[in-house]
Amino acid sequence: MSKPRILVARAIFPDIVDRLREHFDVEANTDDVIWTPQELAARLADKDGVLTTGSQRIDAALLAAAPRLKVCANMAVGYNNFDVDAMTAAGVQGTNTPDVLTETTADFGFALLMATARRMTESEHYLRAGKWTKWSYDMFAGSDIHGSTLGIIGMGRIGQGIAKRGAHGFGMKVVYHNRSRLSAELEAECKATYVGKDELLRIADHVVLVVPYTPASHHTIGAAELALMKPTATLVNIARGGIVDDAALAVALRERRIAAAGLDVFEGEPSVHPDLLTVPNVVLTPHIASATVPTRRAMANLAADNLIAFFDGRGPLTPVNQPATLR
Ligand code: GLV
Repeated sequence: MSKPRILVARAIFPDIVDRLREHFDVEANTDDVIWTPQELAARLADKDGVLTTGSQRIDAALLAAAPRLKVCANMAVGYNNFDVDAMTAAGVQGTNTPDVLTETTADFGFALLMATARRMTESEHYLRAGKWTKWSYDMFAGSDIHGSTLGIIGMGRIGQGIAKRGAHGFGMKVVYHNRSRLSAELEAECKATYVGKDELLRIADHVVLVVPYTPASHHTIGAAELALMKPTATLVNIARGGIVDDAALAVALRERRIAAAGLDVFEGEPSVHPDLLTVPNVVLTPHIASATVPTRRAMANLAADNLIAFFDGRGPLTPVNQPATLR
């Protein structure tokens, strides 16, 4: 019997592509070309499965052009690149990579918070530019992490990891907002108190966003929300571009309506709003929150395992939908 045909839509670890070749007839994008939706559709026309990253959109038009496609394994925990309703209606299975990146991403969220509050990149640019000719008492004075109030919007696994780091490691008071309240046990583990979104924005010294992107979470933070925040507060977005209105944020940063921001994700990335590139009080990183070698390997292996388990008939390991009937 011929093997299922799989497309690996972006470059990933070569040995994991080799592992896939043991099970599938694989076309791999080893040159890591960013295909247009039409180019992706043409490559998927004869494929049974695909390993995607967040940069491939799977929607009704693509599914119509790829009639054999049965499973899309995303190498990311977020899957807003999938039109899940269209996939479910077409009988196409989707999977993601939860859990394996939780602690790595929570580490990064905390690192970005520290770098932002303590003005690390702004002061490094000053030093590299040769401007450090004398020390002064208020040079790059930032805000404290220890003992301050941490507000987390989106209290899934990663949000909880950040809460624990803040509460247990840095003695922070943690408040959170989420679609649903956590159990009393989880709240106690995270030492976190549930509050409304507006209250969180008013009382937090540091706001961290870890909410999934959906039409409902679009611009969770815009001009009105930024206006609620303390002028000394910092904002960190490790969730998705589009959760923050980047243009409104650039204005708030320039006018010092909040102290600083740390951003790992951007609206329209890899493009970055030009005003964010010119304000000094923002730390910018290129969507790397889960980027350690062990974690990226674990994500690629889990995406591969999802494809293998699906075609073995064992069912996907980490599904994001449950089509009533499969293609
Ligand atoms: C990265 O952004 C992910 O969703 O895994």
